[in-house]
Amino acid sequence: MAFKDQIDINKLPGHVAVIMDGNGRWARRRGRERVYGHHQGVKAVRRTIEAAAEIGIKYLTLYAFSTENWNRPDEEVTALMDLMVDSINNETHTLVEKKISLKVIGDLDRLSADVRNRLNETMKITSPGTRMKLIVALSYSSRWEISEACRRIAVAVKEGRIREEDIDEKTISASLATSDIPDPELMIRTSGEKRISNFLLWQLAYTELYFTEKLWPDFGKQDFYKAVADYQKRERRYGKTSEQITDNR
Ligand code: IPE
Ligand code: IPE
Ligand code: MG
Repeated sequence: MAFKDQIDINKLPGHVAVIMDGNGRWARRRGRERVYGHHQGVKAVRRTIEAAAEIGIKYLTLYAFSTENWNRPDEEVTALMDLMVDSINNETHTLVEKKISLKVIGDLDRLSADVRNRLNETMKITSPGTRMKLIVALSYSSRWEISEACRRIAVAVKEGRIREEDIDEKTISASLATSDIPDPELMIRTSGEKRISNFLLWQLAYTELYFTEKLWPDFGKQDFYKAVADYQKRERRYGKTSEQITDNR
């Protein structure tokens, strides 16, 4: 049975986050430059967006470029930036057509003005889309995001908009770049690496993690559905006992 047919549409994760990893290895195994892997990776991005939208996922976050990725060789960084912005722009009409809105999270000040303007334009054009929200984490790291949130809260306290004793989890969640996005239920990482790499550290507190050996350019729709089907078999206990969860059904 295809993995898609195993999915219970009534128990879908609302938000799926993906660490798209393994482009470089995919290319090197074929004796090609790493950038070739990134180009092939774009096709996997397209497949994943389609797969998610098809079954009715409401939020899809893709980790495209981390703060740490700025430390890669200049040629790779430049090629990746060009590729990402070209891809986002090329896909704008498809996103509009499919009613998918784009949101980019990350330190966009580090991008060139041209890149930033083009991204803002696509976010604006796609904003009416209500079928699915596509969040691209670009020049993003969770520690950067949390530091920014702390700064924002500190300013709010200083200006008397928040009282120190009122700061709680909600204050922090509301100060993150993802303030309008629910926490992911499922996080997928490809390429066999089992780490979070500074991705959504706060938001992943109770997320189900799914790791696959598949390298990102090989990741297809069925791989996405397989991860969702796997997620649906898990029992999410949030600190409670299994009996408590079953009795409440
Ligand atoms: C993921 O693939 C893409 C980005 C991080 C931008 P990698 O480029 O990390 O590929 P590997 O992990 O070196 O194979
Ligand atoms: C994580 O991949 C970042 C993205 C997928 C954008 P990396 O390949 O940069 O992660 P590490 O450094 O190997 O953990
Ligand atoms: Mg990698």
